[in-house]
Amino acid sequence: MVDYVCEKPSDLAAIEDMLDKAFGPGRFAKTAYRLREAVAPVSRLSLVAWEDGVMRGSLRFWPIEIGDDNVAALLLGPLAVDPAHRGRGIAIGMMEIALARAAEDGHRIVVLVGDEPYYARLGFSAAMARRLRMPGPVDQARLLARELAPGALQDVAGLIHQPLRTPEFSAAG
Ligand SMILES: CC(C)(COP(=O)(O)OP(=O)(O)OC[C@H]1O[C@@H](n2cnc3c(N)ncnc32)[C@H](O)[C@@H]1OP(=O)(O)O)[C@@H](O)C(=O)NCCC(=O)NCCS
Repeated sequence: MVDYVCEKPSDLAAIEDMLDKAFGPGRFAKTAYRLREAVAPVSRLSLVAWEDGVMRGSLRFWPIEIGDDNVAALLLGPLAVDPAHRGRGIAIGMMEIALARAAEDGHRIVVLVGDEPYYARLGFSAAMARRLRMPGPVDQARLLARELAPGALQDVAGLIHQPLRTPEFSAAG
């Protein structure tokens, strides 16, 4: 049975190892990492999947803001599952739990960079993100967004940036 629990500081080495294996050492050059630098993940939403005492997957979320109005949102990712355990629903399982919790906690918008055919099943689309921009090179077709509160993205546009204020929901530390 796979257990989905919040990541702990003692999980960090195993998470980094899993991400290195999934994305390679070049992962830090990705534009999304500019939004993560020196910012703590949202601990209530950042999950690890455990089975038989072994980490099978990791999902993290980061606080971001959008546009000149600094609209609060979440950046989903990175998301990775042990190659030997892919196709078992572990990634979907982590995302369903985290997204439901995010909505309960009052988060309204989630943004990510990824394949639309995969994330569409969780309600993400490039159309929802069409007025958003990442702070660096990203294929706009892979910039996806989802509203957790209906209408949350209405009138929201502009550059995605690091949070200017202390994130209300980030309980890291
Ligand atoms: C993407 C990843 C996290 C999925 O993990 P997983 O636990 O195997 O995913 P799930 O079991 O929940 O879902 C698997 C389903 O998604 C599909 N899928 C996986 N990647 C996909 C993609 N890029 N595009 C479309 N469908 C995809 C699988 O074909 C499978 O479909 P099925 O349910 O119809 O059989 C995993 O493949 C991984 O770690 N990849 C390397 C890192 C990565 O690319 N992360 C995402 C970056 S945006």
